[in-house]
Amino acid sequence: MPKYKHNIFSKLPNVRTTIFTTMGQLAQKHSAINLSQGFPNFEPDPSLIDLVTQAMKQGHNQYAPMAGVMELREMISEKIEQLYGRHYHPESEITVTIGATQAIFTIITAFIGSGDEVIVIKPAYDCYEPAIEVNGGIPVFVQLNNTDFKIDWEVFRSKITPRTKMVIINTPHNPSGTIFTKEDMLELLRSLENTDIIIISDEVYEHITFDGHGHESASKYDGLASRTFVCGSFGKTFHITGWKMGYCAGPAQLMHEFRKTHQFNVFSADHAVQKALATYLKEPQHYLGLNQFYQEKRDLFLDGLSTSRFKIKPSQGTYFQLVDYSDITQEPDKVFAERLVTEHRIASIPISGFNTKGIDNHLIRFCFAKTNETLEKATEILRKL
Ligand SMILES: Cc1ncc(COP(=O)(O)O)c(C=O)c1O
Repeated sequence: MPKYKHNIFSKLPNVRTTIFTTMGQLAQKHSAINLSQGFPNFEPDPSLIDLVTQAMKQGHNQYAPMAGVMELREMISEKIEQLYGRHYHPESEITVTIGATQAIFTIITAFIGSGDEVIVIKPAYDCYEPAIEVNGGIPVFVQLNNTDFKIDWEVFRSKITPRTKMVIINTPHNPSGTIFTKEDMLELLRSLENTDIIIISDEVYEHITFDGHGHESASKYDGLASRTFVCGSFGKTFHITGWKMGYCAGPAQLMHEFRKTHQFNVFSADHAVQKALATYLKEPQHYLGLNQFYQEKRDLFLDGLSTSRFKIKPSQGTYFQLVDYSDITQEPDKVFAERLVTEHRIASIPISGFNTKGIDNHLIRFCFAKTNETLEKATEILRKL
């Protein structure tokens, strides 16, 4: 850490460089195949890029409206209604954000204060806890079962206290690749009845589910939708993670509070990209085709590993696959992941860092949002381990 001549008080003393940055840098240093961080190594649809260029040429280069370009909010509203049967009013119930990350951070900042408890299901994507802590909140963890990553709803209910203000769920789930079933959603609904607890439902992988599994959006359930911010990401859906574009949808009263913080946090998201997405979303196949697109990649990756020594439960959703390497070695996951890069030139993400108390179940995560050529090269190496 660089030396600074004044004493500073850190609001996040425990935050270190993320494992994504560490593994990404290591991958670069060793010219490794990078299956660590969750982004595609292929280009988005050229017609989407053309739409952005056109929007810029048409003069959409100044601040967009605070809550987002209206045509885009209308398209988001239509998409949610068609898929999940709930109407969100584009004027008052949808806000366009700088990726799902900003939506999540802003929701937490708008609603969580000193001593408020937020239930986080572990292993969890890494942006939730710092956002809770920087706002003075207390993350309360529920660890998923280490074999099938199911949630024990009795344990979940035992964590609810009078100070619980929020619950964060994520389905399809990063890193496990599991999805909440209808029964899970009903358990959640029953668990929160008679409380004022708000939900963040992180659904950035809503369009990436496999083997006929449907996505159970919180917006489908009356008793959940009335207390939930559903967060989405165009980055994940249209292979444009670098454009940082997402949204959240929620009941008007909650959204009103959200926007009080949003307008002083970022004010608004990229104008030209919003215009382009509004047009691109008019063709539902652009997002409905994603399941098949990624299922083929998952299957190629799994076929490539079928004769390897990894133990694998096929991912049900997301573009991640967990693998159990305990038949290869008993090393801690961080050591094994590091050795995979330095000796075999493949980068992955060790899972222990996402668990409570760093529980290590000898699991690492691969991202299969990669070209078929990359996946084939990767599996060829992994089969030899
Ligand atoms: C579960 C989950 N939520 C949110 C995000 C962030 O989405 P965005 O890039 O739109 O900010 C990611 C990105 O990896 C993720 O995996």
